Amino acid sequence: MDRKRQFLIAAMAAAVVAGGTLLPAGGEDRNEKLKGNDANIRDHAALLVREGREIFRFDTFGSEAFWGGALRLHEAIAGAANGGIGPGVGPRAALSLGLKVDADALPPDLVASVKAGAINLDDPAVTLALLKLDAVVGVKGLFDTEGKLRSVGIQCALCHSTVDKSFETAAIPAGNIGKRLDGWPARQLNVGAIIASAPTVKPLADLLGVDEAAVRRVVLSWGPGKFDASLILDGKAFRPDGKPGAVLIPAAYGLAGVSQHTYTGWGGVSHWNALVANLEMGGSGTFWDPRLNDSSRFPIAAKAGFGNRRAEKDLITGKLAALQLYQLAIPAPGGERSPFDFGARRGEELFNGKARCSSCHVPPLYTEPGWNMHTPEEIGIDAFQAQRSPDGRYRTTPLGGLSTRQEGGFYHDGRFGTLRDVVDHYDRHLKLGLSEQEITDLIAFLRTL
Ligand code: HEC
Ligand code: HEC
Repeated sequence: MDRKRQFLIAAMAAAVVAGGTLLPAGGEDRNEKLKGNDANIRDHAALLVREGREIFRFDTFGSEAFWGGALRLHEAIAGAANGGIGPGVGPRAALSLGLKVDADALPPDLVASVKAGAINLDDPAVTLALLKLDAVVGVKGLFDTEGKLRSVGIQCALCHSTVDKSFETAAIPAGNIGKRLDGWPARQLNVGAIIASAPTVKPLADLLGVDEAAVRRVVLSWGPGKFDASLILDGKAFRPDGKPGAVLIPAAYGLAGVSQHTYTGWGGVSHWNALVANLEMGGSGTFWDPRLNDSSRFPIAAKAGFGNRRAEKDLITGKLAALQLYQLAIPAPGGERSPFDFGARRGEELFNGKARCSSCHVPPLYTEPGWNMHTPEEIGIDAFQAQRSPDGRYRTTPLGGLSTRQEGGFYHDGRFGTLRDVVDHYDRHLKLGLSEQEITDLIAFLRTL
């Protein structure tokens, strides 16, 4: 083999190892030189991704009508001293609810004060200042001309972003303030506790046909990192075994190439985005899903007419294209992968061989190309959550980024605390007969994803 060929093969291997796609040599230059329709496509993609990022991070879709207008959450945040009610929510309390602060939104003098410990972390006025800076990830404060908080709305980033560990002080541990990590599930966020802290939950109580105390009991049962999107569709709050019906907030990265989305495969990314923005976030838009008219399966949704929503002002539909493209553009964060990690290499062989994992988690998508859905029996778990969705099945979770989302556990409801628990489950259910060494190797491989 001549040297040039050797070099080419090495470069291609490096690209494959890095998980990159194979651009022809000089591909980048060619992209720059595109003209006409080709240049249009390139520029359109770049524009949509930019717009999508703004929408994902900052758009409320009109949801302030629900979170502020109906639940009056802003009053509880501001506190009596700032024109609201009660003690208010200081930054320390906000962080303990799992809310995150975007370090890039903080002006240098504020950063210096935070670092010097010169900020009162229990003063709700500081939270209001952070909201004015758009620094609270996923929460938008709306202020009147006198600077009083008059409403709050929520953004996709609330549940589908977190921050990195680049910023810490004596009083604030790393992972609370930092640079945004879009697509990473907010596994510390306590959505239920946030809802329960609202002065009223009557709109939810009326929708579900229960009293306010029952709503608070249900949302407080979820705990951090979980939310129950099906609650407002079927009204089922608890599983037959008494555990909450909530599911773990999933990753919104590594979704390109994946057909069905959500744990139970409700539809594609754009279907779910429209559903969530209209129904779960309380935004103002158009939504069509006649499956929700089935009053035996989705009594709450059918009664409320969720299957056919036509708001007077549509703040959602025009954003779906950019929003979808942005999510598909977010790569799964890769785990550490060393060619000298022989355990992980043996684990990969098991994954694709004896352990039969790749029959469903097909590399490199780590889900099936096609209709990636399975019955509860196939994966050996109960049917409760699957039965709450149109097809009664579970979707094969794409495993990219697995090593970075261990908090909260695995499977839709976090029932398996560790990867060892997951592998033990498959070992039993699929009768794999894995040895202790094989289990260790398989886990070592999963940690590289
Ligand atoms: C209150 C928290 C919350 C908010 C806000 C939220 N989501 Fe989600 N999202 C969830 C949960 C929980 C699921 C899992 C639902 C299920 O499987 O039942 C989910 C599922 C998803 C999925 C499917 C991912 C997969 O596993 O394939 C996508 C995509 C998504 N959300 C995007 C969005 C977008 C875009 C927005 C804003 C329009 C948004 N979400 C707002 C909590 C949230
Ligand atoms: C029959 C298809 C199938 C096979 C075989 C299979 N899986 Fe899965 N896997 C699924 C489905 C479906 C889910 C989603 C379950 C849920 O969320 O409740 C899943 C979820 C997982 C998860 C949890 C991901 C997360 O973020 O929650 C891990 C880890 C996993 N599988 C690893 C494996 C390993 C390792 C093997 C081989 C030993 C394997 N799977 C074999 C279908 C399969």
